[in-house]
Amino acid sequence: MFKVLVLGSAAGGGFPQWNCNCDNCSKARAGDPTARPRTQSSLAVTADGKRWVLLNASPDLRQQIFENAALHPQEGLRHTPISAAVLTNADIDHSAGLLTLRESQPFALYATPRVLGVLAGNSVYEVVNPEFVPRRPLSLNKPEKLVDIDNKDLGLTVTPFAIPGKVALYLEDDSQDNFGSVPEDTIGLEVTDTKTKKRFFYLPGCAAVPNELAERLMGAELVFMDGTTWTDDEMIRRKVGHKTGQRMGHMAMNGPEGTIDTFSRFDIAQKVFIHINNTNPVLLDDSPERAEAEAAGWVVAHDGLEITP
Ligand code: MLT
Ligand code: MN
Ligand code: ZN
Repeated sequence: MFKVLVLGSAAGGGFPQWNCNCDNCSKARAGDPTARPRTQSSLAVTADGKRWVLLNASPDLRQQIFENAALHPQEGLRHTPISAAVLTNADIDHSAGLLTLRESQPFALYATPRVLGVLAGNSVYEVVNPEFVPRRPLSLNKPEKLVDIDNKDLGLTVTPFAIPGKVALYLEDDSQDNFGSVPEDTIGLEVTDTKTKKRFFYLPGCAAVPNELAERLMGAELVFMDGTTWTDDEMIRRKVGHKTGQRMGHMAMNGPEGTIDTFSRFDIAQKVFIHINNTNPVLLDDSPERAEAEAAGWVVAHDGLEITP
């Protein structure tokens, strides 16, 4: 059965972040029940309930697999239900988890040629031996039927498309426009159950919604959307950083250009915020911002949330 599992709902750094003492992180660390901890950004999806595809591979992947029985080895001495992984960018929070999957275990790895090139340029990723883990390039706007390493159909089709965003932090080039970002640096995914045609969108990093993207999302059944910040300058105002959300390639929830207002015009049945930064007040179950997001029809994802599209 077509199913999506939220493995990690927090942005880079997770919640609480290891070195952060902001109000949110302090509450989470103290075990406050209104500040539920969250691991870093990733979904798992299946069409048959047995074979799973990771959408991004977070540095918390080992913990995420441990906490989700569906991803445990099921048979024999060495096994994984993880048949493939698809990356939406090369950010650490979306790619470093590949290093966890390094025990010569076969699975298929899909990403744009740009992102695959970034991995190929970092020799540490060679531990995910290409002999066992074939790299498969995704072409923008071309539906791709996902298949496992034996070319068996996984029952899922992904359509990658470029969205406004930014190159990975460690590749930023200050001398270039938008730090040298190219369209293949940040993609959104439309994920379809090949048989039933049910589908959802996954956009964990998105800096703006141009008309083309608005048309794509209009009337969708289910969208997982970038929920990094509540206000664009929240990290500065909380004195834990000097960057705005926009500077990092993310649009804020609140305000006239924010996701809540923008998405209110799209007639989307289920809207879910993911990739939520530890400074975002929606993380607290009892905050006015959480109440405002929910009143606007949004779900604030938590780890372990399961949705059947
Ligand atoms: C982001 O989403 O902006 C990045 O994950 C930031 C980072 O690399 O820490
Ligand atoms: Mn991120
Ligand atoms: Zn914090």
